[in-house]
Amino acid sequence: NNNNVVVGVFDKEYLAVSLAQYVANLSNKFINQRGAFTVTLSGGSLINYLRKLLEPPYVDTLEWSKWHVFWVDERVVPKTHEDSNYKLAYEGFLSKVPILPGNVYSINDALSAEGAADDYETCIRHLVKSNVIASSSSGFPKFDLQLLGMGPDGHVASLFPGHPLVEEDKKWVTFVKDSPKPPSERITFTFPVINSSAYAALVVTGAGKADAVHSALRVSENSEKLPVALVSPEDELKWFLDKDAASKL
Ligand code: 6PG
Repeated sequence: NNNNVVVGVFDKEYLAVSLAQYVANLSNKFINQRGAFTVTLSGGSLINYLRKLLEPPYVDTLEWSKWHVFWVDERVVPKTHEDSNYKLAYEGFLSKVPILPGNVYSINDALSAEGAADDYETCIRHLVKSNVIASSSSGFPKFDLQLLGMGPDGHVASLFPGHPLVEEDKKWVTFVKDSPKPPSERITFTFPVINSSAYAALVVTGAGKADAVHSALRVSENSEKLPVALVSPEDELKWFLDKDAASKL
C-alpha cells in the first residue's frame, strides 16, 4: 500500500555514500520548501551508515542550522549509558556537525518510561502547532524523513513482532516495559507516526537480516506481516540493503 517503494542493493562501501546523497537531497528539498528539515534517528548500525555526511561535500554545504533531530525510539537509561541511542548518535554524528543544540530533541532521561513518553509526545505536539514539524491530513506529525533500522526479527523502532503496541493507532509516542530485546524499558514512536512521515529509509545490512527482508518484501496476502512490513510513509519508502541482507530476495 505504499505509493512508492524503492529497493537499493549496495556494496558495503557504497551504501553509506548513497545514503548520504539521499539524506542530502531531502535536506535540500525540505529546507527549500519549508525552511526546516525534520529527521528522526534510530539506534544500531544506522548512525555508522550516516558517516559520509560528516565528510565533504556534505559537511560543508548542508544547512545544518535548519535541521531538527528526533528519535524514533530510545531506551530508558541515562544519556551517558552505553545503551543510550542518544549517546550513540551524539558521539558518532551529532557532535561532529553544527546542528543547533536547541534543535536536538532527545528523550528526557530524568523521567520514568511513562513520563518520558508523555513528555516527548507533548514536545512533538508543540512543534506541530508551531509548524516546525509538518502535519499530515490525519493530524499525526509528518516528519520529513524517518531513518529506520530493522532487527533480525523484523522489528522497527521498538515495535516488536506479536507485541500489542504494533496495533497502537492513537498515541504518538508510547512506552514499552517488556521489550524482548534488552533493555526492556523503551520509548517508541507508534506506526501512525512512522507512517505519516513524508519519507522513510530502512537501512538493513548483514546476512542475519536476509530472512526478515525476504518476508517483508515478498509477503503474501495472507501471511502475518512483520512490523517492518507495515512501514508505509506517505511519499516514499527506500530500502538501503547490502548484498548479504538482499541475498534471499
Ligand atoms: C534496539 C536497536 C534496534 C536496532 C535494530 C537494527 O533498539 O535494540 O537499536 O532497534 O535499530 O536492531 O540494528 P542494527 O542495524 O545494528 O542491526
